[in-house]
Amino acid sequence: MCGIIGINSNEEFYIKDAVKRLKRLEYRGYDSFGYYDGTILFNQVGHIKIPNTDDKSSRIILHTRWATHGGVTKFNAHPHQSTKKKVTIAHNGIIKNYEELREKLIKKGHEFTSETDSETTAHYFEEKLKTKTIKEACIDFLNDIEGEFALVIMVEGNENIYALRRDSPLVLGVGTNTNYVASDIYAFSDITNMAIFFENNEFAEIGTDHFQFYDKKGQKIQKEVQTFKWEQEESTLQNYDHFMMKEIMEEPIVVKRLLFSLKTEQKINFEKFIDLMRKAKKVTFVAAGTSYHASLLGVYYLHKCGIEAQTIIASEFEHFIGVDKDTLVIPISQSGETMDVIEALKYATKHGAKIASIVNVPYSTIQRISEISLNIFAGQEICVAATKSFVNQVTLMLAIAKEFGYNVNLENLPQRIEEVFTMKETIKEIAKTLFKQKHLYVLGRGLSYPVAREIALKIKEISYIHAEGMMGGELKHGTIALIEKGTPVIGLLNENDYDMRSNLKEVAARGANVISISNKLKGDIMISTSNDGKFGILASIVGQLLTYYLARELKLPIDKPRNLAKSVTVK
Ligand code: M6R
Repeated sequence: MCGIIGINSNEEFYIKDAVKRLKRLEYRGYDSFGYYDGTILFNQVGHIKIPNTDDKSSRIILHTRWATHGGVTKFNAHPHQSTKKKVTIAHNGIIKNYEELREKLIKKGHEFTSETDSETTAHYFEEKLKTKTIKEACIDFLNDIEGEFALVIMVEGNENIYALRRDSPLVLGVGTNTNYVASDIYAFSDITNMAIFFENNEFAEIGTDHFQFYDKKGQKIQKEVQTFKWEQEESTLQNYDHFMMKEIMEEPIVVKRLLFSLKTEQKINFEKFIDLMRKAKKVTFVAAGTSYHASLLGVYYLHKCGIEAQTIIASEFEHFIGVDKDTLVIPISQSGETMDVIEALKYATKHGAKIASIVNVPYSTIQRISEISLNIFAGQEICVAATKSFVNQVTLMLAIAKEFGYNVNLENLPQRIEEVFTMKETIKEIAKTLFKQKHLYVLGRGLSYPVAREIALKIKEISYIHAEGMMGGELKHGTIALIEKGTPVIGLLNENDYDMRSNLKEVAARGANVISISNKLKGDIMISTSNDGKFGILASIVGQLLTYYLARELKLPIDKPRNLAKSVTVK
C-alpha cells in the first residue's frame, strides 16, 4: 500500500499537476498525502487535495499513505526528512529492523519527529552521507535493511532522484525530457508508455534525461525499456457519482472484451494455460479477498467436470500444502501486487512449482514472475471494491472450465448482465429496507456458496454492515442461533436447489426477513439464466448493486472505504 512518485524534469511543471498524478495512485492509500519539491515540504491528513497554487518545480517526490506504523497524523505523513534536512524520502513498505536502527541513530544525535518506520531511512542516509557517496549509501542500505521498500530519495545539493526496491513495486517511466519513478504505471501511463520495472535489490540514479540502474553490489545494469499497452476505460467519473457504479456498469463491455481476447490476442496463451493445467498432477489456486472467491468458484466449476483442484487463501498458503514440480499454482489477483500472494508464489517457486497467473494489471509483479499469465482485461478499477474485475475473473474461470467440459454459453453473458441492470430500482428499494440493520447473512450452496461470501465481503467493506456469507447447510450447526425476528437473510436460490429452499424455510420459521435472489423460482430478485455458473456471476452483480445502494443510504465514502486500500502490498 502507499503510493510513491518521483519526477525529475529539465522543464518546470506545476506542482498541482504533479499532485494530480499522485491522485492517480490514491487507491493505494488515502490516510494522508504530501510532497517535497526541493524547497517546500508539504503534507496533510486525509484524501488528496489538489493545491490551489501556481507554484512550479522541476523535481519532486510525492507520497500517498496507508498507515502501518504510527497513526494517521500530520507528523506521520510522508515525505520524511532527516534531522539536518539533507535527505528527504517517500517510502512504501515496512522497514522491519527500524527500531534498532532508530536507537543507533538517536545515539548519534538524530532527532525523530514521527512514529513511522519510514523516517528511519532518511536519517540512515544522512548518517551514511557523512562519509560515503550516495551510491555507496544505497549499497549499504540494501545490506543493512530488513523488510520491504520502494523508496525515493532526494538529497540536498544533488540534482538526481534515487530509487530503491525490495518486494514493493517500483517502476521507472521514461518520458521526453522527464523521468518518472512510481509505485505503478498508472502514475504516468497518460504521458509515456515506456517503462523499466525494478527487480528486487536494485537501485537507480534518475536524472532528467538519463538514468542508471545498479545491482546490490553497485554494478551497473543495463535494463530493457518495455513498451506497455493497456486497454482502459475513461478514468474520470463521467456522469456517475462514484467509480463503483461506473465500474459495475462497465461489466458487459469488459466481459465482451475478455471473451474476444481469448479468441484473438490471448488465444495462444489461453491454449498454453489449459495445456499446463492438463499436464499438472495438482492444480492449486492462490488468492486473497474477492479474488479468492473467484478462485473458489473456479474450483467448484472444475470439480463439476471431474477435475481436482484446490484453492488456498494466500496468507495461509505455506501452512497448508506441499507443492512440488508437478504442481501448477494459479494465482488470481486484480492488482497483481498483493504481497500475500507474492509471498505464496515465492514459496511455491522455491519448491519447484510452475506459476500460471490470472491478473488484471498488466506488467504487475505477479504477471512478471509467472511462467505464463492471462489477463482478465477489466481495465483500470479505481473503486476499492472489486466489481468488474471479479466478474471477469469468474468469466475466465468459466471459460477455463468450459475447456474441461463444463456446459455454459458465455456469449450471452453481457446481455444477461444488462438484464440484471434493469432491476436496479428494485434492488435500491431493498437497500432502503436494509440499511439500518447491523447484521445480515447471505446463504448459498454449491456454486452459490462462494458468491454468498463475495456478496457479504462487498457489503462489509463498502456499507460497514456486518455480513456473513455462509454455506446454507452449515447454518444449522451454530449460526442459526443468531436468527431472530427481522434478521435479514439473503438466500441465493438456484433452480432445483431444494436443500437451499429448506434452509430458507428454516430461517423464515425463526422470523428471518428472507430476501431471495433466484432464477426461475419466484423471488425478490429474479435472474434469467438456467446455468448455475452464470447464476453465480449475475447474483454477485445483484450483491454489488445492493452494496452500492446500502452505502448510498448510509452516506458513506463509497469509493474509498475507511481503513482500506486497493492494492495490499504489505503482509
Ligand atoms: O489485487 P487482488 O485481487 O490481489 O486483491 C485481493 C484483495 O485485497 C481484494 O480482492 C479485496 O478483497 C477487495 N477490496 C474486495 O473488494
